[in-house]
Amino acid sequence: MDLKVNIDNVLSFISKDDIYKYQNEIDQHHKSILNKTGKGNDFLGWVNLPSEINQSTIEQIEQIATSFKNKIDVFVVIGIGGSYLGARAIIEALSHSFSSLKTSEYPVVIYAGQNISEDYLIDLLEILDEKEYAMTVISKSGTTTEPAIAFRILKNHLENKYGKTEAKSRIIAITDESKGALKKLATDEGYQTFVVPDDVGGRYSVLTPVGLLPIAVAGFDIRKLIDGAKSMQSLNAQSSSMDKNPMALYAAVRNALYNSGKGVEILVNYLPNLFYITEWWKQLYGESEGKEGKGIFPAGVSFTTDLHSMGQYIQDGQRIIFETVLSVEKANKKLEIPTDKNDLDGLNYIAGKRLQEVNQKAELGTMLAHIDGGVPNIEIKIPQVSEFYLGQLIYFYEMACAISGYILDVNPFNQPGVEAYKKNMFALLEKPGFEKETAEIKNKLNNKG
Ligand code: PA5
Repeated sequence: MDLKVNIDNVLSFISKDDIYKYQNEIDQHHKSILNKTGKGNDFLGWVNLPSEINQSTIEQIEQIATSFKNKIDVFVVIGIGGSYLGARAIIEALSHSFSSLKTSEYPVVIYAGQNISEDYLIDLLEILDEKEYAMTVISKSGTTTEPAIAFRILKNHLENKYGKTEAKSRIIAITDESKGALKKLATDEGYQTFVVPDDVGGRYSVLTPVGLLPIAVAGFDIRKLIDGAKSMQSLNAQSSSMDKNPMALYAAVRNALYNSGKGVEILVNYLPNLFYITEWWKQLYGESEGKEGKGIFPAGVSFTTDLHSMGQYIQDGQRIIFETVLSVEKANKKLEIPTDKNDLDGLNYIAGKRLQEVNQKAELGTMLAHIDGGVPNIEIKIPQVSEFYLGQLIYFYEMACAISGYILDVNPFNQPGVEAYKKNMFALLEKPGFEKETAEIKNKLNNKG
């Protein structure tokens, strides 16, 4: 069984023709992705990554994971954006829901460098004072401010706690092969290092050591994850026909909905451990498509939780939304609703049923209500939350994003808009080299005041 896309519940909003009219265009885009001839073609290393992952890299990663098992309590992943979201998405999807409170032979993975909150880092240092820990610092460019600040602070903490030599064995750097401040630091300090390939951008890097190392340290099977991605890669390579290729179908249907006036896509999950899959997806689609005044706005909700908050807007608010539901067919665990002899809550009518069944009825009921309310629904059917199917999902989303970005006629592999905040922040911090920008921004702020 494979991941599948069901578009039945968009067909009362747009016609099959509206969707299938993209087929010719998709055939061209599919070809230019595989042949690496389209926009941003120097960032297409992720396309063949699953089948081309270096075996010795996998073995090295597994060795590190084994050496940390039972040795450390906590593994800190320092990174931001594509340098942490993929790992977090997979780890949280597969982890025990209360892993931080559960004894395990594997370290708990926690995150730093994804914000600049002073309180967050102080809290983290307080925890690390009492724990055995190691860390990885991940930055493709090697110059990103948030992880650089966190690493500077945590490196000092680690060295003070264990001494410089032991600290060195507890730091792994993942960065560019030759450029950037982190690469230089890692070489000077003699850290074990993994490379982020030149032709793989941050948000497409989960199947490189960027994602694989933290996932393996957390105790999950990276070979099965890669196998899942490989199976989607092979499905994609066979055909660009929407009838055979779910990535092509998803790319077409979301563009058809976008062109019918639905500018917001909400990714819906019914399992709280998929929350970070949504965060990863938001980055992948937001950063890849939101440019040149175009792009579907990617949003996310966790149901049934958010039916009691965002549910009102989705049912009755502005009709600019479509939903994509991550529909998981089989739960990994089993729990039935007990019978109660007094039945004061009136729930005996569902006693004996599994929670999964109730959750699935909530999913179907919500979908029907939202369709009635004017919200088209795409369904992505996932047989089970496991390494293999998450691997399929990663590749599915990456390929669909590339095709969809090409339909939109943008370069899905750059992110020029991210620089604007950085320039202002550096100017306000009076970074050397930014004297002109500092003067300009001070002027702007004075004129406003
Ligand atoms: O997808 C991207 O390219 C970005 O989100 C980056 O991953 C993010 O900005 C972090 O960059 P870096 O890994 O260079 O520190």
